[in-house]
Amino acid sequence: MAAPGSAACGSANEWIHSGLASRHGFSLQDSFSSLSPSPGGPSALRVVCLAGFMGSGKSTVGPLLARQLGWRFEDLDARIEEHAGLSIQAIFERLGEPAFRQVENEQMDAAIGRALETRDPVVIALGGGTYAQPGRPERLRAAGILVIWLDSPVELLLARCATMSNRPLFRDEASFRALLAARLPFYAQADHRVDADTEPPRVVERVLALPPFERFTGIAPELSSRRVRS
Ligand code: S3P
Repeated sequence: MAAPGSAACGSANEWIHSGLASRHGFSLQDSFSSLSPSPGGPSALRVVCLAGFMGSGKSTVGPLLARQLGWRFEDLDARIEEHAGLSIQAIFERLGEPAFRQVENEQMDAAIGRALETRDPVVIALGGGTYAQPGRPERLRAAGILVIWLDSPVELLLARCATMSNRPLFRDEASFRALLAARLPFYAQADHRVDADTEPPRVVERVLALPPFERFTGIAPELSSRRVRS
């Protein structure tokens, strides 16, 4: 596998941007534009990112949460596929993980940038590895983005992912557990951790019971969710 920043990564991105950026009306410069702090300060809650390992329910909980809030929902993996014109699986196979990570980073910035500029609030389901890349927790924190970690037991994650063929990083149980262990220190940097060990509607209730949503719901924070960053 090519290392980040290698020639393979560069050529893959040239390929992506030559054929695809123009098709989607998106320039390389746009996608690399840096995130700036949320206008209106941290109290202006406009972007909520759901982080967590593959199978934690981000893409299922996200739309339900967005509906409850009356916000838009964006699925980062779907954005990446749309932008690349390829499935996630095909991006990994043809271009490699470093290229995938680069496009993922660009699309994350673009999704957040749109929401901040248009003041159009959005719930974004990140990919399982999005928040677990060096510098990303810091980057989102600096932009004033609220990140919620959906924390599921590894047995549940395994059970959910074992039946799906569209997860290139799911190879076997041992590597799955090792990848999760390596990512936990990243997920733990989220603003909040929510137990995602149950059905999606219940997980949404837990998210909405967190302090940042009090003014939307009037619900008091509950014990099953705890703040992980002071
Ligand atoms: C990945 C998780 C996937 C997808 C890609 C890489 C990861 O998203 O972004 O296959 O690095 O764990 P889900 O968490 O939605 O499966």
